Amino acid sequence: MDRRVRKAVLPVAGLGTRVLPGAKTTPKNMLNVFDRPILSYIIEEGRAAGIEHFVFIVGRGQGAIEDYFDASPEIEGALEAKGKADILAEVRRDLPEPGQMSFVRQMAPLGLGHAVWCARDIIGDEPFAVMLPDMLMAAAPAALAQVVSAHGQVGGNIIAVEPAPEGQAHKYGIVDLEGQIGRLNRMRGMVEKPAPGTEPSNLFISGRYVLQPEIFPLLEKQGKGAGGEIQLTDAMAELMKIQPFHALEYDGVTYDCGDKIGLLRANVAFALRHPSLGQMAREAIDSLL
Ligand code: G1P
Repeated sequence: MDRRVRKAVLPVAGLGTRVLPGAKTTPKNMLNVFDRPILSYIIEEGRAAGIEHFVFIVGRGQGAIEDYFDASPEIEGALEAKGKADILAEVRRDLPEPGQMSFVRQMAPLGLGHAVWCARDIIGDEPFAVMLPDMLMAAAPAALAQVVSAHGQVGGNIIAVEPAPEGQAHKYGIVDLEGQIGRLNRMRGMVEKPAPGTEPSNLFISGRYVLQPEIFPLLEKQGKGAGGEIQLTDAMAELMKIQPFHALEYDGVTYDCGDKIGLLRANVAFALRHPSLGQMAREAIDSLL
């Protein structure tokens, strides 16, 4: 019987090449989407899916992530003294309970598969989630909650997928399905960054996974794949030989914040959705058009 998904791995060590120079001194997943950092939305999504422990795989120079999830006595004290309870609540909203976050250094940028492997000792022997924080998802229920719920239904390993924009499939991991009935389908294969024209489908791996711990020994011996990196997709393809994988076409919209235009789209979309500032944001955006 599959156990509950309690922990999530967040690989955040990337250099953010496509969002430089913004990501030069600010870790790319700490860049703002409207009024809070990308990681604030990701943690909110994880919590909505029942995640209790977040494992960040960080690189050098990313101390701001740990600091963001720590208390800030100066800021909190000043807000308390001034009676600014609403801002104080916003500042504290993402703080974990003590012991609910771990930070692991990925000492060299060897690829997503290597980043996930760095979490093996903290995950141990239970199913776990992977959230790629570049991909911000607007969905109700939350995207990861949909994936965890699919895992509750069919067990095994689940990958969130969505149709790739025309001509873009070769930039992603692409899944091959056994057949397509509804949104949750058994997979037959997957390939990382297929050469244009060789994609087995147009459904790309969009950045939310539930995986079984048997992935770790496979990641350990996984050689380099696409782009000369140790690829999670290649180890998952190995695991698929002994365990079932399902692809879930999740219900929602994805914003790729690893890219300047994607980040802009996310800023506009989340500003418009903001519970108290959405209307003012709409007026401000309209006034520019
Ligand atoms: C990674 C994954 C790929 C997935 C993509 C989603 O690729 O390896 O399977 O489709 O994220 O953003 P990357 O964007 O790191 O090249």
